[in-house]
Formats: sequence, structure tokens, C-alpha cells
Amino acid sequence: MTDTSIYLDHNASTPVLPEVLAAMLPYLREHFGNPTSGHAFGRRARAAVELARAQVAMLVGAAPDQLIFCSGGTEANNLAIRGVMSVRGDRRHLVTSVAEHPATAAPCTWLEGQGVAVTRVGLGADGQVREDELAAAIGDDTALVTLIHAHNETGVILAAAAAARLAHARGAWIHLDTAQSVGKHPVEVAALGVDLLSIAGHKLGAPKGVGALYVGPCVTPRAAAARGESRSGACGRAPNVASIVGLGVACEVARRELGERIAPLPGPARAPVASSGGGGPRPAPAR
Ligand SMILES: Cc1ncc(COP(=O)(O)O)c(C=O)c1O
Repeated sequence: MTDTSIYLDHNASTPVLPEVLAAMLPYLREHFGNPTSGHAFGRRARAAVELARAQVAMLVGAAPDQLIFCSGGTEANNLAIRGVMSVRGDRRHLVTSVAEHPATAAPCTWLEGQGVAVTRVGLGADGQVREDELAAAIGDDTALVTLIHAHNETGVILAAAAAARLAHARGAWIHLDTAQSVGKHPVEVAALGVDLLSIAGHKLGAPKGVGALYVGPCVTPRAAAARGESRSGACGRAPNVASIVGLGVACEVARRELGERIAPLPGPARAPVASSGGGGPRPAPAR
């Protein structure tokens, strides 16, 4: 890689935005407290985590207390998929697609090994999940439908609201892996009608190793009870405060810039789609 390298793989990962890095540094230096501590150092860190929770929530149209911080898209998907199957004992069927990211495919396969029935629906020639197959796959024993929102290889955006209606019509919940869409495409939980949604920080200008899971109102009481979760902020462990702060700022920037990010690219004389540096002109996000 040279200074003139052009980075074209924002689906794999994005550079940390300069304002994200600047917001994180104080939480690696002077504000190092544990947010679960009651003293001033802890309270300062806790306030930063809560601000970040509000910033992430705002981007996806959720309430702050509907967000759980975790280590990224993979952990969010595992929490959602394995968590739901652990609280819906009455329903032992899971629906997914044949074209999921390994972060979804792996927990589905693991559950299959535990005796859960898994149906993987196919895609049409347009890369969309086949709606007729999806409708036929969801039954009265289906606990969860889990699908990728923006596909990491094809870029196809799932017709998510229609999938959600099909799931809910049979009493199933729906989880969307929005690792590739949040911050690059409008993602709003009410408009999508989803029950759970995964966010991966490093796809939108935050560092690797941080993410969030949105848990909607019909899931929350049962899922939280099953996990014995307190609102300590990050899946029970001492929260990764600096990265969570970074995720919050990345979501805030995304909310401000979303209109610009989704505007059509200019015609033949296109600007480069990304630069390798973190401090230069802001790279256009991947589509
Ligand atoms: C669609 C999708 N889901 C999940 C992940 C995993 O996210 P993370 O790297 O934060 O665990 C990725 C990352 O490549 C992804 O593209």
C-alpha cells in the first residue's frame, strides 16, 4: 500500500473517521473509569456510554434503552439468533436464506446441531429473497426469521418490510443484519417493522470490535429476563467505553450526512469512491 493507494472496500471495513478518533481518545487517556463504578470516574464514563446509546438509537429510530452494545456484527447476530431461540421454547423453527453472511449462517448451523429446524430460502435472479418461498417457509412453529438487509457481496437491499409482515402474520419475530446498511442507507426500525437489528461499528467509520443490537418491544421482556440482563450497558462485561463513544459519534455523523451519502454519484467524471487515509477528504461510503 502506498500514499496514492485508493481503498475500494468499504464493505469489508471503513477507516475510522477523524472526529470518531478525536472523541475516543479522552476515554483511552484521562476518562478511563468503569461505567459500572459509582464514583466520579465511573459516572463520567457512564455518561459517555449513555450519550452514545442515544446517538445510535437516533440513527435507527429506536429508544436508547432498546440498544445493547456488543463487540460487533457477529456478536449482535449471535445474541439475536441464539437469544431468541432460547426464549421461544414453544417454537423450534428458524427461517433464514441461502445467502447469509457467516455471522448469521454460523449461529443458524449451530442451532441446527442443537435440534432446531432451519429452513434456508433461496434468492431470485434479482438477488432478492424469494417472497413466495419465504411465505411458504414461515409456519406457526417459526420463532425467528433472520435475513441480511444490504448484501455484503451483491449490494441488494432486502424488501425488509414485506418480510417483516410475513413473519409477524405467523407470530414469528424478524431479525435483520444491517451491518452493511446502517449509516449508508436509511434504516429505521419502525418503517422496517423489525424486532431485532444488528449494527457493526467498523462498517460506518467506528473501530472494529464494537457494535450494537436493537431489541424491540415484543422481544425485550422475555429476552432480558432470559439473560438476567441489567442495564450495565454492554452485554454484562465492563463496556468498551472508547469504542462505544466512537460508535456513537459515527452514528451521529452518519445521521447528518446520510442524505449526501445516498445521493446518486456524479456521471462520467466520478470522484474516487474512497481514499485510504483517515484524515483527508471524507471518503464516499460504499454502496
Ligand atoms: C453483513 C455482515 N454481517 C456481519 C458482519 C460481521 O461484523 P463484525 O466484523 O463487526 O463482527 C459483517 C462483516 O463483514 C457483515 O458484512
